[in-house]
Amino acid sequence: MRKLILAIAFVATTFGVAMSAQAQQGNPFPEGPGREIVAVACTQCHAPNAITQLRMNEAGWRNQIYDMVLRGAQIGPNDIDAATKYLATSFGPGVPFPNQQPVDVKLPDGAGKELVEGGCALCHGVDRVAATNRSKDQWEKIVNRMVFYGSPISGDQVTSIVTYLDQNFGVKQTAAK
Ligand code: HEC
Ligand code: HEC
Repeated sequence: MRKLILAIAFVATTFGVAMSAQAQQGNPFPEGPGREIVAVACTQCHAPNAITQLRMNEAGWRNQIYDMVLRGAQIGPNDIDAATKYLATSFGPGVPFPNQQPVDVKLPDGAGKELVEGGCALCHGVDRVAATNRSKDQWEKIVNRMVFYGSPISGDQVTSIVTYLDQNFGVKQTAAK
C-alpha cells in the first residue's frame, strides 16, 4: 500500500514538473481573451506555428477548430466561440508575421499575376501558391476555399486567378517538364 502511494506521488510530481516546464517555454500566442483555451487545447498535437503562421477570418478558424475536434482536440463546446474570436483577432487576414523571412518568389508574368500578388499573399507566402502544380478543377476548389477563409477577391477575380494559376501552375506544365 505504502509503495502504491509512493508510486502515485512520484507520478504526480513528475507530471507536475513536466507541465510547469511546458508552461515556462515562450508562449507564442499574443495576449487576449481566449488565449488560454487555445494555448492549452491547440498545442497537444502540433507546434503553435501550425497556427501562428496562418491567417484566417472567423469562418475559417471556426471551421479549422471543428476539423481539429474531429481529429481529437479537447475543446468544450462552450469554449469554441472564444477560441474562434481569439484566433480571428490574433491571426486574421493581414495580421503581420513576426520573425518571418519574406519569401522571394517571382511569379510568371500574365494577366492575373497582380491579383495573385494582392489577394493571395495576405495570409501566407506566395510560395505556397507556386509550390505545386494542380488541375484547373483543383485550383478552382482551392481559390474558393481561400475566399471562404477571407481572401478579399470578387467572383470575376476568382475566374481570372484560376485561369492564371491553371496556365502557370497547371498539370500541363508538369507533364511538359
Ligand atoms: C488531436 C490532435 C490535434 C489537436 C489537439 C489540434 N490539432 Fe491542429 N492539426 C492536427 C493534425 C493531424 C493536422 C494536420 C492535418 C492535415 O494535414 O490536414 C493539424 C493541422 C492544423 C493546422 C494546419 C493547417 C494547414 O494546412 O496548414 C492548423 C491551422 C491547426 N491544426 C489548428 C489547430 C487549432 C486551432 C487547434 C485547437 C483548437 C488544433 N489545431 C488542435 C491535429 C490536432
Ligand atoms: C484569408 C487568408 C488566406 C488568403 C487571402 C489566401 N489563403 Fe491560401 N491558405 C490559407 C490557409 C489558412 C491555408 C491552409 C489551410 C488549407 O489549405 O485549407 C491555405 C493554403 C493554401 C494552399 C495549400 C493548399 C493545399 O491543398 O495544399 C494553396 C495552394 C493556397 N493557399 C493558395 C492560395 C491562393 C491561390 C490564394 C489567392 C486566391 C490564397 N491562397 C489566399 C489562407 C489564405
